[in-house]
Amino acid sequence: MRRIKIFDTTLRDGEQSAGVNLNQTEKLEIARQLEKLQVDIIEAGFPAASKGDFTSVQQIANTIKDCSVTGLARAVTSDIDAAWEALKNGVEPRLHVFIATSPIHRQYKLKLSQDEVVERAVRMVKYAAQKFPIIQWSAEDACRTELPFLARIIEEVIQAGANVINIPDTVGYITPKEYGEIFQYLHNNVPSIHKVSLSAHCHDDLGMAIANSLAAVENGATQIEGTINGIGERAGNAALEELAVALHIRKDFYDADTRLQLKEISRTSSLISKLTGMVVPANKAVVGRNAYAHESGIHQDGVLKEKSTYEIISPELVGFQSNTLVLGKHSGRHAFRNRLDELGLSVADEDVTQLFTVFKELADRKKEMTDEDLAAIVLEQKLSK
Ligand code: KIV
Ligand code: ZN
Repeated sequence: MRRIKIFDTTLRDGEQSAGVNLNQTEKLEIARQLEKLQVDIIEAGFPAASKGDFTSVQQIANTIKDCSVTGLARAVTSDIDAAWEALKNGVEPRLHVFIATSPIHRQYKLKLSQDEVVERAVRMVKYAAQKFPIIQWSAEDACRTELPFLARIIEEVIQAGANVINIPDTVGYITPKEYGEIFQYLHNNVPSIHKVSLSAHCHDDLGMAIANSLAAVENGATQIEGTINGIGERAGNAALEELAVALHIRKDFYDADTRLQLKEISRTSSLISKLTGMVVPANKAVVGRNAYAHESGIHQDGVLKEKSTYEIISPELVGFQSNTLVLGKHSGRHAFRNRLDELGLSVADEDVTQLFTVFKELADRKKEMTDEDLAAIVLEQKLSK
């Protein structure tokens, strides 16, 4: 089975979410939790971006021992120098250096020709290789880049010393089939590709970040990048908890797994939500409040008989206490009776039918029936006898 490395960029791309600003103490607390979760790589920030970012990356690099810590740099020497100063005392100093490769970015942002982009990328990788033992190189907007040019620049940066090649879908534009084909193309057209690891970095503008990342795994990527709860620029990045759980639950299909301590997922997700102020939608896969809640009578009856009827992820696997059977107008008698028993509200079998009728009448008017509602129904019936 292949081991897929998890590259967490919650503290860098994630912090680029509109309205999010984490202080140093909060960033360190998050990094410590990511270490417990056992991500392989923590991208702690962008050291050249600000004094605060620099100090925070340095503090995380000096504290975290069980993950590799990296920092982002543009393809300019001052960024690479700042990253080295911030990371040099870490257990495994790793640089993440990028340059845009697509025609749109070359023409409007960089105002550089293909040859000039290659020349700068190679020069900066060689410069970084004098200091850093591990260099990840990213082709920003790779998915809108001409494939022959992408293959050419990747071959050149590998020869210059890059160890990990990242193929970002910077604007969340690609589809799973196309993304998989890019990885295949690179395998067939970059002579030195076998010397490096390939990484996937997907944004969720079209809601395809998870599917795209998994397509990359199917086509040879051995590292996937993302953020906790999928936070990040615009519509966000691939949600790491979803990727890790998908690989784990569908090991039979992907024949791949990660080293993540899945039971730390719930705690990590709550911490990120609390510190960023970004609420996790109730229906979000893996960590949403409703992800393990069953409402309809048919489903509740099913899980009471055998959980696997309607649950493919057990809540305990990712650190939640248990599933919940939400009592509402769709609920059935089985779940109703089960909850009364759990609450210690002893009810004779012959009374259940009448109580259930009262419950349904009330449930028709209310969104969700609480334990207090159930207690009140039972009490009322006892008093009326
Ligand atoms: O989305 C992107 O292109 C990035 C790069 C800096 C890797 O975040
Ligand atoms: Zn990104």
